[in-house]
Amino acid sequence: MVKTIDWKDNSVILIDQTKLPDEELYLKISDYRELADAIKKLKIRGAPAIGIAGAFGVCLGANQSRIEKYDAFKKELEVIIQELAATRPTAVNLFWALDRMRAVLKNNRDMPTIKKLLLDEAFRILEEDKKICRKIGEHGAALLKDGDTVLTHCNTGALATGDFGTALGTVYTAVEQGKKISVFADETRPLLQGARLTTWELKKANIDVTLICDSMAAFVMKKGWVDCVMLGADRIAANGDTANKIGTYNLAVLAKFHQIPFYVVAPTSTIDLNINSGKDIPIEERAAEEITFGFGKRTAPENIKVYNPAFDVTPFELITEIVTEEGIFRAPF
Ligand code: MRU
Repeated sequence: MVKTIDWKDNSVILIDQTKLPDEELYLKISDYRELADAIKKLKIRGAPAIGIAGAFGVCLGANQSRIEKYDAFKKELEVIIQELAATRPTAVNLFWALDRMRAVLKNNRDMPTIKKLLLDEAFRILEEDKKICRKIGEHGAALLKDGDTVLTHCNTGALATGDFGTALGTVYTAVEQGKKISVFADETRPLLQGARLTTWELKKANIDVTLICDSMAAFVMKKGWVDCVMLGADRIAANGDTANKIGTYNLAVLAKFHQIPFYVVAPTSTIDLNINSGKDIPIEERAAEEITFGFGKRTAPENIKVYNPAFDVTPFELITEIVTEEGIFRAPF
């Protein structure tokens, strides 16, 4: 598995996902603002990975601070946490991880101890995520039969997590169990996480993968080539409504029409019990250029009006099951 994010020599090391699949470039980041920028620009992305990055970002900020008095340091750290929180609004894992980092300050006032405990907590979040992904894989693999073909969207693999992945982790586990699993990967417009990242990961793992454009999903379902849809989540409301990469809702509607099971696979840190339904999930909107000038080429006239939401919300009625590390949830979620 690729090492998505790590900490070495007081710096965050991460693979720049905007450079994949062309180049495997590892960045060494020791400034929390640079890390915030990397999250914004999707150099690191995927809900659990964003949470881990945010936690290490707090450690960078704490190390950069020259303040030695607890109260002033606490204030400064809150500003740093707010800057990291302002990077991407939809994946709740970021806020969950930042809350855990904030909690470290509550019971400690000794500065060197605090800095050490912050790093311990960030490592704990990373290591827990690795274990959680394996657990999710075990639960999810029970849904896959030998010979199944899974259609997936965006990237939910090792690149999106501390290691192994969620929906892709389920595929990896089923394959480890000796099942033959094939995957259709949606290219995932406009930033092509499916084409660039999912196919790259699956090819490395020797798993049979076929790339399709997002608009081809209905056609391959109609042909009877898809046994289930399995994908991740950025935030799941208390009623089961699920925000995930734009295009997920389309797939849920298509799966319902073709009577194909639709599985959401995510850690419980993606569940936001403070939000009753999907209508309250904040949806990130991104720059128009991602659509009009993608990957260095103009693909629409200049000054055209664009709407570019990064996520959509799938109503719980369209979700067959939600797979987590704690087990599988069914309606009513
Ligand atoms: O914009 P991205 O690439 O961060 O979006 C990622 C997704 O939508 C993933 O499906 C989700 O975060 C789950 S990752 C295990």
